[in-house]
Amino acid sequence: MNGADRYAVFGHPVAHSHSPWLHARFAELTGQRIVYEARDVPPGQFDAALADFVAAGGRGLNVTLPHKLAAVAAADGLTARAVRAGAVNTLSVSPEGLLGDNTDGAGLIADLEHNLGLSLAGLAVLVVGAGGAARGVLPVLLDAHPARLAIANRSTAPAAELAARLAAEGPVEALALAAAHGPWDLVINATSASLAGERPALPDDAVDGRSVCYDLVYAAGPMPFLRWAAARGAQRTADGSGMLVEQAAESFSLWRGVVPPTAPVLAELRKRMARARRS
Ligand code: ATR
Repeated sequence: MNGADRYAVFGHPVAHSHSPWLHARFAELTGQRIVYEARDVPPGQFDAALADFVAAGGRGLNVTLPHKLAAVAAADGLTARAVRAGAVNTLSVSPEGLLGDNTDGAGLIADLEHNLGLSLAGLAVLVVGAGGAARGVLPVLLDAHPARLAIANRSTAPAAELAARLAAEGPVEALALAAAHGPWDLVINATSASLAGERPALPDDAVDGRSVCYDLVYAAGPMPFLRWAAARGAQRTADGSGMLVEQAAESFSLWRGVVPPTAPVLAELRKRMARARRS
């Protein structure tokens, strides 16, 4: 597409990224002319690939694993939410240089509040995991003023460290996984356990009929944590595909100044994922 602005996602692996399809759909639905490609950038090659992309006129980048920290270092400036998340998933090329942002947290909140209809204020919220994914979403959860916010992690030290780091922003409890007894209105699995076909060993009473259970990971099939939650009688279960669409929409609107519709794109994405599962 001649004259179209260029965007890309850098990751490793990146072949199965949905981002090129998502941004192409947003562009179609909003009448924007863009080109968006996925580029496999091995660890250690991020800075060189970024320099090439900018030199070739690239306007913006999404950054996924394992480059979210390299993108913090590469940015000339960071938004407040990128600083709080400690990671960058969106870079924008501007006359002032490269601006690093993080749209993951906003994507999660948009999915929970708009797509799942949850109002977080006043809820008891449990985040399971204390790695990069948990660190990325906890600040925005605090901003939503839950009645109670706790982190439970398999190893207790990272949960305690994360809670201590967030203490200035609001009250966050650190719990051992086995001590994360309910009732919880919302349980967010921010561990990487699903990727290994496992689930965090929460006590059975962490989930009951009032709980909405959310896995930040999205997958072609039902994941162990969500299967377990459904078997516990959870009110509702959701994977991270809505967050994926919402964080992409947030990046798109930062770059293009136009907010794309997300509900039809999420419905199409779910159909694509179901088709991929069957084939
Ligand atoms: P990410 O960026 O996805 O958060 P990470 O920083 O490597 O990845 O963190 C992985 C998180 O998943 C950690 O909280 C890890 O728990 P530990 O700190 O105890 O290692 C958690 N995790 C991974 N596999 C898990 C499993 N099978 N059960 C429970 N927690 C698990």
